[in-house]
Amino acid sequence: MMALTTKEDLDSIKSWLKKGKAVALTGAGISAESGIPTFRGKGGLWEKYDPEIFANAEELLSTFRQKPERIVDFLSDLYSLLLQAKPNPGHFALAKMEEKGILDCVITQNIDDLHNLAGSRKVFELHGNAFHLRCEKCFRRMGLDREKLADLINKMNKYKNSKWKLLRLFSQFFPKCTCLARFRIDIVLFGEMLDYDILSKANQAVNNCSLLFLIGTSGVVYPAAQLPFAAKEKGAKIVEINNNPSELSYICDYQILGKAGEILPEFIK
Ligand code: OAD
Repeated sequence: MMALTTKEDLDSIKSWLKKGKAVALTGAGISAESGIPTFRGKGGLWEKYDPEIFANAEELLSTFRQKPERIVDFLSDLYSLLLQAKPNPGHFALAKMEEKGILDCVITQNIDDLHNLAGSRKVFELHGNAFHLRCEKCFRRMGLDREKLADLINKMNKYKNSKWKLLRLFSQFFPKCTCLARFRIDIVLFGEMLDYDILSKANQAVNNCSLLFLIGTSGVVYPAAQLPFAAKEKGAKIVEINNNPSELSYICDYQILGKAGEILPEFIK
């Protein structure tokens, strides 16, 4: 399981953990064992729906104009996955490490809310959260009730072939903010800016950590992929946990090949 790491390596990582706080940067891989397919892995949602279309605001709008039922299908499939997913032992181990004072925070590229559900308290969601709404202008956020969301999906499927009924439904579900702009789902789509405040807090955390866990990310999407470089420059050790090598493996001090849900619980023993 731990192909590149010996017992001595594990002990040495544990001793680094005692020297200061660690930070975890997670990607889709940590949620794979919760049944959510990764972005670049085989199978799953992103083979059925081209991310160039379904993760891009302009393409989404133009598809909605031409074939609203495609958007309904996509949102139904996405949310039925997300609504069913439960945190796995990897998410719980990180929450436990925070509770024990070993881990400062989790920085995640995931939108699935699973770190919060597992009990992690300090979570920086670089790409947003599918269970929040965000004002598209002033970035004010509000929670999205899971039952209300399931109800929206049901209604959307009922009105699937009527663009006008869908538009009316969306205008009820996505209210206007006090700044008069509209709320939308809080997901950062391709080509969109990250929330500056969240990104700067994530930067601050990696600049002050003694060890960075790089978990289940291919390390190809920036600015998230820049964070391990910042940590390394400040002298932090980088520990990768991934069942395959990634684009960032070469900067890691330790590489643990295996599943996050099996490896992370080792650190709370
Ligand atoms: P990817 O799909 O690019 O990478 C997932 C990584 O997880 C791969 O390196 C896998 O080897 C690894 N992996 C799979 N199962 C694992 C497991 N059980 N345990 C540990 N590792 C496992 O996903 P991300 O790197 O998260 O952005 O992708 C980054 C961003 O690309 C996403 O947040 C998304 C996308 O564009 C936006 O939507 C803005």
